[in-house]
Amino acid sequence: MTTDQNPSRVAVITGASSGIGEATARALVAAGLRVALLARRADRLQAIAGELGDAAIAIEADVTDRDALVAAAARVQDELGGADVLVNNAGVMLLGPFSSEQRADYRQMVEVNLLGAITATEVFLDQLRDGGGDLVNISSVAGRTARAGNAGYAATKWGVNGWSEGLRQELMPDVRVIVVEPGAVATELTDHITHEATKEATQDYVRDLAITAGDIAEVIAFAVTRPRRMTLNEILVRPTAQER
Ligand SMILES: NC(=O)c1ccc[n+]([C@@H]2O[C@H](COP(=O)([O-])OP(=O)(O)OC[C@H]3O[C@@H](n4cnc5c(N)ncnc54)[C@H](OP(=O)(O)O)[C@@H]3O)[C@@H](O)[C@H]2O)c1
Repeated sequence: MTTDQNPSRVAVITGASSGIGEATARALVAAGLRVALLARRADRLQAIAGELGDAAIAIEADVTDRDALVAAAARVQDELGGADVLVNNAGVMLLGPFSSEQRADYRQMVEVNLLGAITATEVFLDQLRDGGGDLVNISSVAGRTARAGNAGYAATKWGVNGWSEGLRQELMPDVRVIVVEPGAVATELTDHITHEATKEATQDYVRDLAITAGDIAEVIAFAVTRPRRMTLNEILVRPTAQER
C-alpha cells in the first residue's frame, strides 16, 4: 500500500473508552501512530492506554466541557508534540418516540454528538493545521436517513454531515475532512437508551445484524493513512444485511 504519511503521527480520539473509539485507538497504534485517548471514564482509558504502552496516553475529558478539552490539548502538545489527527467519535444515541419525557436526551445528544465535536475541533484546530492534519467525524447512517424514533439522534448526525462539508471546503488543503457513517455496530451505544421498549427493540435489531467496532476502526485507519493528495470524504459502512 502506498502512503506518504509520517508514521509518527499523533491521533486524538474522543470517546476512546469503549466501542469504535477504543477499537480505533488499537488500529491506529497498529498502523504506527501514537494516540491520546479521551473520555469521561478514566479507569477504562488507563487500562487501554496501559495495554497500548508508550504509544498511548489517557486523558479524562468530557467533550461538553470546553475547559477540559483545552487542558487536554495542552497535554497533547506537551507530551506528544501536538495532534495530527482528531477523531470526533464521542457520542450517545438516546432513541425513542418524540416527547417531552425525552427532552433531556435531546439536549444531551446535541451537546455531545454535535457541539462536542465542534468544540473539540475548534480547540485542536491549530494543532491539526500545523503540518497537515486529518479531521475524522463519526456520523452514522442516521446522518443520511432519518426514521420514526430517531429524530433527535438523526438531527445531530445530519448536523455533523452539514458541518463537515462546510469545514471540508474551508480547511482544504491543510486539513482533510473525513466523514464515517457506520450502520449497526456491536458496542455499548444502545445500553444508554432511556426509553425501555425502544432499548429492547434496538438491542434485538443490533444483535442480529451488527458488524464489529474493529471493522469500522480498520476503515478509519485506512482513511488517515492515504497519501495526502487524496481524501475519502464520506464513507458509509453498513452490515451487508442492513436494509437502510
Ligand atoms: N454502534 C453503532 O451502531 C453506531 C452506528 C453509527 C454511528 N455510531 C457512532 O459511533 C460513535 C461511537 O459510539 P459506539 O458505538 O462506539 O458506542 P460506545 O461504546 O457507547 O462509545 C461511546 C463513547 O463516547 C464516549 N462519550 C459519551 N459521552 C461523552 C462525553 N460527554 N464526553 C466524552 N466522551 C463521551 C463514551 O465514553 P465515556 O462514557 O467514558 O465518556 C464512549 O467512549 C458515536 O458517535 C455513535 O453515534 C455508532
